[in-house]
This record gives sequence, structure tokens and C-alpha cells, in this order.
Amino acid sequence: MIDLAEIRPRHATPPSGFEALAAEIFALKKQLNALILAHNYQVPEIQDVADYVGDSLGLSRQAAGTNADVIVFCGVHFMAETAKILNPDKIVVLPDKDAGCSLEESCPADSLARMQATNPNFWTVAYINCSAAVKALSDVICTSGNAERIVRAAPAGRDLLFVPDENLGEWVMEQTGRPMTLWRGNCYAHVEFRRDAVLELKRRFPDAKVVVHPESLREVRDLADAVASTEKMVAYCKSSPARRFIVVTESGIIHRMQKECLDKEFLCAPAFDVTRMPADHCRCSECRYMKLNTLEKVRDCMKRLGPRIELPDDVLKRARLPIERMLEISAQPVENAE
Ligand code: 13P
Ligand code: SF4
Repeated sequence: MIDLAEIRPRHATPPSGFEALAAEIFALKKQLNALILAHNYQVPEIQDVADYVGDSLGLSRQAAGTNADVIVFCGVHFMAETAKILNPDKIVVLPDKDAGCSLEESCPADSLARMQATNPNFWTVAYINCSAAVKALSDVICTSGNAERIVRAAPAGRDLLFVPDENLGEWVMEQTGRPMTLWRGNCYAHVEFRRDAVLELKRRFPDAKVVVHPESLREVRDLADAVASTEKMVAYCKSSPARRFIVVTESGIIHRMQKECLDKEFLCAPAFDVTRMPADHCRCSECRYMKLNTLEKVRDCMKRLGPRIELPDDVLKRARLPIERMLEISAQPVENAE
């Protein structure tokens, strides 16, 4: 029997039927020799049955190092594709095949190829939030957790092309001072956060520290005490002596933050004008793609071994090198390593 007190934070009530579904999933996991990976934005009940919950970098590392036969990827499509590229001989399933990403959509591979053809000296750094076909055209992949480091490691004589997130790209340029040509894509959920809304929350809670995901606009990043990937956001909140945090990213992360910092308070930044919001009203930001996954769909994809990630052999081969390059650069020891 699952000990709910162990896997859920004190405050959280599990949804009805959680225990029976979780028991089914644990039995399937054993039977299939499966690894369940979940992104920090997944609903609490999915996080609670996962073997590992983390950001894109941590999830890629887990996928690269697993001995499981089946990877159940509770996240969005490009994340499951990355797991498949790293494990071409394993079965990789995701609970909902329509769990996409606005960044991935913004950068079709044929448009990228046309852009690359305009400058043979381009070195393409692709944020992991892109399709396998785009990865196959790229020189190196990065995540929000290692983008700065990956760009610093790029060959000095090359012109950098950063795709597809213009906001992460802009932030990395600010950090490194390295000019880059930016693809004009963005995360539809993060660009909804506005300076005024965060300022109003800061006015109401002056003791709160502000943690911001780098996919957000500069007007919001400029208000941050920390700009960080989802994993580094959790780490920052854990290690900070502050008791209260304004969290500017998708609201799924709050579950992990509360689970790992029982005595701290987390306020979701609202994705609209907070001055018109009643004080007790919650309007947290949600990624409509991440939220397509449910615990029932996790059970079903394990039962059916589908939807399954399948990719053409040439894409699998070509996309692997830039991902491995990222993992290698990221693993090199430095101060403040990811
Ligand atoms: P992280 O790698 O920081 O978890 O970000 C993934 C993502 O999709 C953010 O919107
Ligand atoms: Fe893509 Fe944005 Fe959703 Fe992350 S939050 S998966 S970047 S749409």
C-alpha cells in the first residue's frame, strides 16, 4: 500500500481515486521495467508517482543513464523525443500525443534550414524546446539550466544563431555579452507575465523574493532576485533564507516547491493585470500542453505502450550528436556546475 503521507505535502489532498490508480501504475512499472519521468509542470498526482521529477536538463540526464526497457515521459512531445534520441532501442511513451509546445511550433525545420543557408558561418544553438528535426540541423542543444554555459563554450570564430526562444536568447546574450542572431519564437505561457502584475505582488508582499524563468520577457526578468531554470528555481527557494517567494513560471512547480520547503510560502505570479484581481483569487499560469497529461492517461499509455515516439533513423542519428555535445559540456566540472 502506498503511504500517501510520504509522497504528498502536508497541505495537499490527493484527488479521489488516486491511491488505486497509483497502485496500478506501480504494478505496471514493475511488470514493464519502466522508468517514469515527469517535468516540474506536471500535475501533482503525476509528480507523486514519478521516479524522477525535474527540468529538461535533469530529465535528459535521467533518460541518458537509464537501464529501464520503457520510458514513460510525463511532459511534452519534444522532451519525450529527446529521450527517444538518447535511447533509440527503448520504447518511449507519453501520456498524450498532443502535448506540444508553442516554441517547438514556432520553428519548423525547413524554415531553419533556409535561415542557416543565408550564413555558412552560423553555429546553431537550439534550445531543447524544438522538434527532433530541428535538433538534427543544430550544432549543439541547450536547456534553460545550461544555456549560458553552452553559449560560452561555442567556438569563438562562429556567428551564433539561437533558436527558437528569443527571450531565453536575449537573457543569455545579457549574461555572456556574446552577440547572437535570435529566432523570433516564444513561450505563449511565459510571455503573458507582465511587469505591473509582479510589481503589484511585490507591493503586497515586500518580503518575498522573485524567481523568474528566462522564457519570460525582459521587463519581468529585470524584477527578479533569481532568473533560473525550473530546477534551479527549486534549489534557490530551498537554500534561500527568505520565507516567501513570487514564482514567475508555470504553476505546476509549486507542488514540488511546497513538498520540498514545507515551512515556506509560494505565490504564483498571475498571467494578467493583478490590480483587477481580488486578493483571495487564484489565477495561476498553466501550460495548456503540459496539462493535457493526466494520471489516467499515464496508466493507459503504460497499458497500451502508446502513444509511442517513433523517429526516422537519419533524424535519430543526426539529432543525437548535438544533445550529447550538450551533456558533455554540461558535465565538465566548473564552479556552480549545473
Ligand atoms: P525547464 O528546463 O527550466 O524546466 O523549462 C522547460 C520549459 O518548457 C519551460 O517552459
Ligand atoms: Fe512550451 Fe511554454 Fe509549455 Fe514550456 S510552458 S512546454 S515552453 S508552451
